[in-house]
Amino acid sequence: MSESEKPVYGRILLKLSGEALMGAEPYGIDTAVLREIAEQISEVHHLGTQVALVIGGGNIFRGVYAASGGMDRSTADYMGMLATVMNALAMQDALEKFGIATRVQSAIDMKEVAEPYIRRKAIRHLEKGRIVIFAAGTGLPYFTTDTTAALRASEIGAEVLMKATKVDGVYESDPVENPLASRYDRISFTEVLTRNLKVMDATAVSLAREQKMRIIVFNLKIKGNIRKAVLGKSIGTVVEEICYA
Ligand code: GTP
Repeated sequence: MSESEKPVYGRILLKLSGEALMGAEPYGIDTAVLREIAEQISEVHHLGTQVALVIGGGNIFRGVYAASGGMDRSTADYMGMLATVMNALAMQDALEKFGIATRVQSAIDMKEVAEPYIRRKAIRHLEKGRIVIFAAGTGLPYFTTDTTAALRASEIGAEVLMKATKVDGVYESDPVENPLASRYDRISFTEVLTRNLKVMDATAVSLAREQKMRIIVFNLKIKGNIRKAVLGKSIGTVVEEICYA
């Protein structure tokens, strides 16, 4: 493996939004898009990096919107957690079509469908070269899948939390509303929190700050970005502890 092909991370947690699986569809899973993402993940796996995944559920059920539409927040969140299980199973199927052993672990007990979440077992799977998909969020309402990602990343000792999303990184303000908004290459956890930048929710960012776990935010739609991030190439925005001397 040439120097430029050497991964800089041994173990990553990759967070994908549920919407990423929709492609151009209004909801659900676009199997062609799913296959494309699985292929990108398989490339990273073949570099030798251990990969754990958290996938959101927004393509099937948007918890927060439903809550604002009058549904009880906890009920909506549980429905969202179940949606993440469907996405996890779909991704497992897609990854296994690329010949990669994959295990789904669920935070809500449903042993006919998936293994229960057991931290030490998840780590063992990763060490054996399996991809582990953490489903059903934290198993608790009021926590997002971003928070799940930060939590699981901390628990398994991931070196980085990669948030693959639909934007190119973290902007000073919403780039859709303000086309002149500039993107940060690098920003501190504290700045993200104090400026209330919409990278991840505050619980997720606070946890990452406490654990000093770097977050990389990048655009999933650009093919090869996951691989670039794993190879340490500069893409998107890096959120980390910055000491301003
Ligand atoms: P090793 O013990 O390292 O060999 O791991 P393994 O995952 O191959 O062994 P295990 O016997 O635990 O699992 C075999 C298969 O059964 C895997 O596909 C697991 O994902 C699946 N499996 C294990 N436990 C459960 C469970 O509680 N529920 C469901 N649905 N599947 C499970």
